Amino acid sequence: MIRTLTGIQPSGSLHIGNYFGAMRPAIEAQAKGECFFFIADYHSMTSLLDPAERRRHTQAVALDWLACGLDPANSVFWRQSDVPEVTELTWLIGTLTPMGLLERATSYKDKIAKGLSPNFGLFAYPVLMAADILLYDTTVVPVGRDQKQHVEMTRDIAVKFNQTYGETFVVPEPQIHEDIAVVPGLDGQKMSKSYGNTIDIFGEEKAMRKKIMGLVMDSRTPQEPKPDADQNLAIHLLKLVAPAAVAADFENRLRAGGLGYGDLKKALFEHYWNYFAAARTRRAELAANLDHVNRILADGAERARAVAQVVLRRARKASGLE
Ligand code: TRP
Repeated sequence: MIRTLTGIQPSGSLHIGNYFGAMRPAIEAQAKGECFFFIADYHSMTSLLDPAERRRHTQAVALDWLACGLDPANSVFWRQSDVPEVTELTWLIGTLTPMGLLERATSYKDKIAKGLSPNFGLFAYPVLMAADILLYDTTVVPVGRDQKQHVEMTRDIAVKFNQTYGETFVVPEPQIHEDIAVVPGLDGQKMSKSYGNTIDIFGEEKAMRKKIMGLVMDSRTPQEPKPDADQNLAIHLLKLVAPAAVAADFENRLRAGGLGYGDLKKALFEHYWNYFAAARTRRAELAANLDHVNRILADGAERARAVAQVVLRRARKASGLE
């Protein structure tokens, strides 16, 4: 049986780079097998110290994912801290995790280099992540390249535990989405919150129109043919949000000459707006019914916990705690 698990950082409003890079493939995976999705609020404590913001972000992420197609009837969706068994498992496997392994974690080194102060939580981040994965007998973890090392560490830890205490954990496989194009941001660099070049999924209409109409193009006249049309930023973005034939038509018209950048950007805005229209409506409905959202998470936590308790029990028995 394939069980896919995805941890989602509660880190503020999501942009279309997040959507096409991580969310859409995760949501599509629901059609192919069993999916476990959780909001990594324990992990957020390593970088976010404002309780109100944590609550707000946790709720926003729940709304975003449900609106975009996470289906709680098929998938298990919960808040990480609602299944505190994961912290016990963190300890059990942490005692078998070599310091050297954690010291080699590039995400830890990057965070320290960025100025975060080295504390236990930051250092133990990959162990908590390994516990997330192992606690649910996960077979597949879809991750971006930046998280691949964490899944490899999880495998090392699982193997070490199994060797030390006997077969206990499923050893998971990372699934790297190499084919996912990097989504360019408003300035042509990779779209990323830290570059301030994002297009939000659920931005406000006026502001988003302004952002998109503000895309910087070159000074060639509309009439001029543009043999480099396939390099155009608006064309790149249009390919994500418009039907392939429509995007190809705009690209051809831009190449041939006669299509102005203003018209191209207007089309991009309209397609972007329509692409997320259904999700926007769903999100508004969910936001008006937070009790319903909380029930979904509570129900998910119960289902997740039923699995977690069995696996934790297995680990406790294997290691002689019971
Ligand atoms: N570290 C992941 C990220 O930054 C989030 C995460 C936490 C996660 N636990 C996980 C991802 C378990 C996959 C599996 O995106």
